[in-house]
Formats: sequence, structure tokens, C-alpha cells
Amino acid sequence: MTAQTEKMVQTAEGTAYGKLILIGEHAVVYGYPAIAMPFKWLQVQVHITPASGPIILDSALYNGKMDEAPQMLDGLVKSVKEALSWIGARETGFAITICSDVPTGRGLGSSAAVTTATMRALMAYFDCEMSAHRLLALLHTSELVAHGTPSGLDAATVMADGPIWYKNGERITPFSLGGCFHMVVADTGHQSDTASAVQGVRQYVTSEPAKGKTSLLHINEGVRDVGQALKEGAQQKIGRAFHAVQRELEVLGVSNSPLQQLITAANQAGALGAKLTGGGRGGCMLALAQDEAHANELQAALSDAGAHHVWHFSIGGEEQT
Ligand code: MEV
Repeated sequence: MTAQTEKMVQTAEGTAYGKLILIGEHAVVYGYPAIAMPFKWLQVQVHITPASGPIILDSALYNGKMDEAPQMLDGLVKSVKEALSWIGARETGFAITICSDVPTGRGLGSSAAVTTATMRALMAYFDCEMSAHRLLALLHTSELVAHGTPSGLDAATVMADGPIWYKNGERITPFSLGGCFHMVVADTGHQSDTASAVQGVRQYVTSEPAKGKTSLLHINEGVRDVGQALKEGAQQKIGRAFHAVQRELEVLGVSNSPLQQLITAANQAGALGAKLTGGGRGGCMLALAQDEAHANELQAALSDAGAHHVWHFSIGGEEQT
């Protein structure tokens, strides 16, 4: 047993939030910027407790020996093994219990949040520190499995305190917001497979390079407009960019009819703008409301249109659900 494992405590907890991409998904994979924030209304809690024998994973998706976990947990398992090797601890003697509010496969960063909370719990259990850089590297390991070619956006966002401007390879910049923005997120209830959506965009960009490039450039313009508008408190400008970028995401083939149905319902209910959020082809959409009362109206309209779940919240002012 190493010095570090001797220091381990009885039980330990790690937490993390889900993520919400405001704008820039998919284009971010090609080196363009994106704006995203931790979705603090959805949390993952991980507890580590001593147990005899091999590591046990206990979650809504699976309960059993970590080494026999289903493929969908491969990313997490790889990160746990890498973390234990870095700590110098054996792969035995404890159980990992995952309680998550973040729905899986909905573009809300479930895999990054679960891995982050697990890494934090491991650090607390073995009483050691990990730099943000090291944690990002471990998250990258699990995101590689979940996304194929991750831009790093999800990992950076779940580790952030608030909205960020993210461009792969550049310093992550926190955002200060120049107004209060009321938003609504609605879940189609349909699974979104980020890896296949990313793969689909790649096929389109490869087979239609000119059209693909145009779409990516338009998304980039939308991200820049939203970046400026968030600082200025210019709601209408954000709404226009959401509309424009949603059209490009449709061209790239990552919207689908359950998403379209909710986006149309939000637009008909007077949303300033509405778009999918995350990988698309299912998962969630995001709409910008005119004010708090209107966010309540949008929430009702989206529920009536068949949303599986709707969250409304504000950013940049007194934050609330
Ligand atoms: C997925 O949450 C966001 C995508 O842009 C993929 C990525 O950034 O790795 C679709």
C-alpha cells in the first residue's frame, strides 16, 4: 500500500454539474469558438465507501463489479483506472455510488459530469490533490469514448463556475453578463448519440466541403454575435443568432423532428430564439424568453408540445429555477 492509500478516509463525496451549450456546438469540433455554462440546476453526486473485494459501481445504469460494467460506462471506467494509477492506489476495496439528476444522452453533459464528480470523490477518498490540468486530461480520456473526437468543450464547461467562451487550444475565458436572460430548456425525451451526430457532421463536411464550411462559418458568426450580445444585454440579437444557428445545425443534419417540434412550439409561443443544444438528433432544445413571465409561458407551451421535461432559469441576474 502506498503512502497515499494509507491516508484514505472512510467515505468521500464528489459533485459536479451538467452543462448547457448556449451556442457553437459541432462547429467547436472544427476549432471555432462556443459559449457554454455549467447547468447548475442538475447535479451529480458521487460517494466512495470502503468495501471488500473488487471495485463496485452502483448507479441507475448499472450495479455490479466495475470490471464487468456495460460498454456505455467504458469512458468512466477508463478514467477511474487512470486516476488510480496516478494516485498509486489498487483497483480494489471500495464502492462508487453515483446519484445523478443529469439525464443521460440528452446533450446536458452527463458523461463529463459523472466523470468529474467521480474524480473529485476519488481525490477526497485518497486525500490527494489533482490539478485542473490533470483532471481535464482524465476527463478527456472518458470523453474520447463518449464522443469519439471531443472538442474539450464539455469537460471545460463542467469544470467552470459560470458561462465560458471556449475555443480548443486557447485559454478558457469566463464571461461577465451584461443583463439578465431568461431561458428555457426542454427535453425531447429522445436519446441523443453525440458520437454519431459528430460523425454525421464530419461526413457532410467531407462530402460537401463548400456547403459545410459555409455552415461552420455562419455558426461562428452566431457565436460571436451572442458573445457580444451577452455582454451588452442585447436579447433580440441573441434570439436572431439562435434562429440563424439552428438553421445551420439543420443543414448539418443534427436536428430531427422531435427537436423541430419543440423549437416550432417555442417560436410560436414568442421565443426570441430557439435552437437545439448539445449533440442533437434528440436530446434537448434551448429557447430565449422575453422575461420571467414569458419563460413561464414558454415552459407551459413546451410541456403542451410534448416535452419530456422543461427547466426554466435565468442567468446574469438573480439566478432562479
Ligand atoms: C457535445 O456536447 C458538443 C459537440 O460540439 C461535440 C464536442 O464539442 O465534442 C457536439
